[in-house]
Amino acid sequence: MRRLLTLAALALGFISSSAMAAGQSRIINGFDAANGRWPMQVSIQFGSPRSHNCGGTLITNQWVLTAAHCFFTSGRQTVFAGDVTVIAGTNNNADGSGQSRNVARMINHADYNDSTKNNDIALLQLDQPVTIVNPITLATPATEALWAPAGQTVTAIGWGNTSTTGDVYPALLKQVDVNMVSRDTCNAASSYNGGITTNMLCAAAPGKDTCQGDSGGPLFVSNRAGGVIQVGVTSFGTGCANPNFPGVYARVSQYNDWIAARVPETLFATTRQSGWWFVNGQGGRGYSIEIRGSRMFFAGYMYEADGSATWYTSIGTMSSADSYSGSLQRYQGGQSLTGAYTAAQSSGSVGTISLTFTSDTTATMVMAGQTLALVRYEFTTGGVAAGAATNQPETGWYWNTSEGGRGYFIEAQKDQIFFAAFMYRTDGQPTWYYFGTGTTATAGNGIQIQSPLSACTGGQTLTDATRSPSCSALPQALTLQFTNPFTATMTLPDGRAVTLSRFAF
Ligand code: ARG
Repeated sequence: MRRLLTLAALALGFISSSAMAAGQSRIINGFDAANGRWPMQVSIQFGSPRSHNCGGTLITNQWVLTAAHCFFTSGRQTVFAGDVTVIAGTNNNADGSGQSRNVARMINHADYNDSTKNNDIALLQLDQPVTIVNPITLATPATEALWAPAGQTVTAIGWGNTSTTGDVYPALLKQVDVNMVSRDTCNAASSYNGGITTNMLCAAAPGKDTCQGDSGGPLFVSNRAGGVIQVGVTSFGTGCANPNFPGVYARVSQYNDWIAARVPETLFATTRQSGWWFVNGQGGRGYSIEIRGSRMFFAGYMYEADGSATWYTSIGTMSSADSYSGSLQRYQGGQSLTGAYTAAQSSGSVGTISLTFTSDTTATMVMAGQTLALVRYEFTTGGVAAGAATNQPETGWYWNTSEGGRGYFIEAQKDQIFFAAFMYRTDGQPTWYYFGTGTTATAGNGIQIQSPLSACTGGQTLTDATRSPSCSALPQALTLQFTNPFTATMTLPDGRAVTLSRFAF
């Protein structure tokens, strides 16, 4: 399918990228994305010869969210599941790299209107799963309202045209920052004049935009915890970077039920944040909580009756957006700070835990029969509200995929980091180490974190909150080199380097 690019209003549809000119460094005025920065992005290819036509995002390892218009011409579907190849896991859509999959099933929204572009949303089921660590989390009405108001900076990515006057299709993935535009502004007589429905979002910035070939790809907004959620699917525009006409995106929050009914494993963002919590007045005991869609991972750092540091975890599905209950687990016998990897064994449940979030910064926890008032741990002034600065690590759990039983929780507030490692003593008992420090920028948007570890003893046990710990810095130091906000190489005190990625639970 080959079609000339037209810049007329609503002149959508397929583009050919066979003319892959050497990339100018822009989507429209964007820049090359770092390799591996957007692992959820795929290239949707068809035609003869096969070429890139649209973007899409992996919402699970087997389902892609994209735009319905990619498969329509002049009001009728012309591209079917069997015509489409999906390329995942590469920034280059033309060198044969990445994981290639056929499409087993294509689901275009039944109410998609090819002339108005209302309901421009579609799902593709891949014939085989791809390997991906982090499927994208989708915006809900509440998270869109909170994090993507008019004026908010958002990021679009894609392999679309980089020229507003000709056809310049890059082989390398690009990204661009634009700002949310209110529906009223976008619908003004001088703009789309009423064509923007409540199923659409608009975004623009001077000289910057998505363009033909970016369609189906994501519009992202920060989740304030170093990660992004997808608020939009690139849909249409009158020209590209035309000052009167913002880019228009299908509004993901309108399709939560439609998507969940077809792909139940989809992750939807919650307004509650991942991060560190503690009880005022109980320094030395802390709780990491990661919320990922409807799943929660809790780990409590506390002490045994003999004073040694210990930890307990709980993992499971939340019973509502604001509540969780599950069993507290203990592990032993696993990997110590130095030496070769040893697998840990569960020593079973030590009680139950329930958590009720009462605001973004307060929660009530009932742990082993004790009721505790949790608050977020703010380690830089205003840091909880500000979240992570650009390129800082995503807040949450990290691990090495071949070293189960040992894990790391990292929170970034601005450019400051709080790190905790949970591992084992050489006698097999669980223990933990921590540090708080600033970060150093390194080449290619990298971030380096280096600090001596600290450890504590003698603090509050699971049931006795009256004790207080003493903490001291250890001679051992640890280095984390992040290459993107979710991948790092950790160099342990004995010089062993392990690759860390996010723990998708
Ligand atoms: N419809 C286009 C495509 O098929 C995407 C257009 C986005 N345009 C814009 N001005 N933001 O690739």
